[in-house]
Amino acid sequence: MHEFPDTVRAPLRRTNSVEWGAVMEPFRIKAVEPIPFLTPEKRQQILDEADHNIFRVRASDVTIDLLTDSGTTAMSSAQWSSLFMGDESYAGASSYERFEQTAKDLTGFPEIIPIHQGRAGERILFTELLSSGQITAANTHFDSTRANVEMLQCKAVDLPCPEAADLTDQSPFKGNIDLDRLWELLAGPDGEKLGAVIMTVTNNGGGGQPVSLANLRSVQEVCQKYGVPLLLDASRFAENAHLIIAREPGQEGRSPREVARTMFDLADGCWASLKKDGLANTGGFIALRDTETAARCRELLIAWEGFPTYGGLAGRDLEALAQGLREVTDPAYLTYRADTARWFADALAEAGLPVMRPAGCHAVYADAGRLLPHIPPAEFPGVALVCELYRTAGVRTVEFGTLTLGHDDQPAPHELVRLALPRRVYTRSHLEYVVESVSDAVGRAEELTGFEITGPQAPMRHFTARLSPLGKGRDIQ
Ligand code: F0G
Repeated sequence: MHEFPDTVRAPLRRTNSVEWGAVMEPFRIKAVEPIPFLTPEKRQQILDEADHNIFRVRASDVTIDLLTDSGTTAMSSAQWSSLFMGDESYAGASSYERFEQTAKDLTGFPEIIPIHQGRAGERILFTELLSSGQITAANTHFDSTRANVEMLQCKAVDLPCPEAADLTDQSPFKGNIDLDRLWELLAGPDGEKLGAVIMTVTNNGGGGQPVSLANLRSVQEVCQKYGVPLLLDASRFAENAHLIIAREPGQEGRSPREVARTMFDLADGCWASLKKDGLANTGGFIALRDTETAARCRELLIAWEGFPTYGGLAGRDLEALAQGLREVTDPAYLTYRADTARWFADALAEAGLPVMRPAGCHAVYADAGRLLPHIPPAEFPGVALVCELYRTAGVRTVEFGTLTLGHDDQPAPHELVRLALPRRVYTRSHLEYVVESVSDAVGRAEELTGFEITGPQAPMRHFTARLSPLGKGRDIQ
């Protein structure tokens, strides 16, 4: 098993060490896009005009965009060339056949339903499987997953394992569900209401932490005993498979495809936003074992997404996804991805930023609460850090704290800021620039102030809120 040392694995300069080789990008670059460099003064003006909400900043004003790993992938030359094979026929397109076969080979599920992105799959699947008043239990529901459960007048219950609460705990599978609490839920008065158990692999809402095969197997046993369907939110299935190989005793030496297949074999069905591990810019699927459930999902699909052989996608998207799903399980790619995240987490920690341990694959999560103890949760320390990183260096990150996850004056459990890693987009020197910027911003931590919301308090307020900085020297209760 890998150890997760608290020290930087490789120095921040080019060396001939094995460590550098382990992180080196296993690809070369064929098409490039320029990135803008603005002055700090200009960025301050942009932040003011954007009401300090990073979602309101134009991408063309961002130097390094770590807002999300979703839909931001750089496609391979094989994917770009596959686009021309796109069959744009409304019905029976050959692109669908290629996509379907690839997804079947990967997952083993006989029923493959294309969707335009993950949340469309959530809406269709939950509408089909859940009825009002039911409960879903998950390691952690992603925000769109929770929203789609709640919109059906059902309740989404998160049961993360206890180790997940400690951001510095080095346990290898902090994405696991708490099995004791799952048993309790099923044996208790609400047990009858459980409509599905959802395992998000990897657990984005819980810091991108992986789920072990052992945990998945136990969940399957519980689900079988009580006759409850087990669903995977498989948006980052390949990254989870890689982390199982790297961390779970007895799994070393297996291929990512084999391990991914074992994961899928344990579930009754899954959905995936293929904007992540599909290595493409849009798309997704629902994959099921049961033919009748799939037939009913297809009826909803026709009403909401489109005919079952395109599901809201163009033929060329299906081609890019079929190719992406083959590339994503390449061990060299996955090793580079995990090593990059781990190196980045170590380097940020050495620069003075408290980060969640161990690192997963798709992002590093910083603990803004610990960096900025003088800013209370109600004044959004995560927003203060997000704004400072943008102002200092044009680096865009996203708050996963009380602004995004707080409800009814209840603060979020942690004041996190996510530095997501778009797939195959940024090189190590881009990330070194981020580390330097963070080091700079951390040096000013004590000067940073909190924020208050001055504009709409909508249900998903983090996307639309207007925020105003609070003055220095305020009394903090
Ligand atoms: N499930 C998980 C675990 C996700 O991370 C996301 C999206 C979805 C479902 C929804 O998929 O966006 O294709 O509709 N996560 C993005 C993010 C938005 O930034 O983490 P979608």
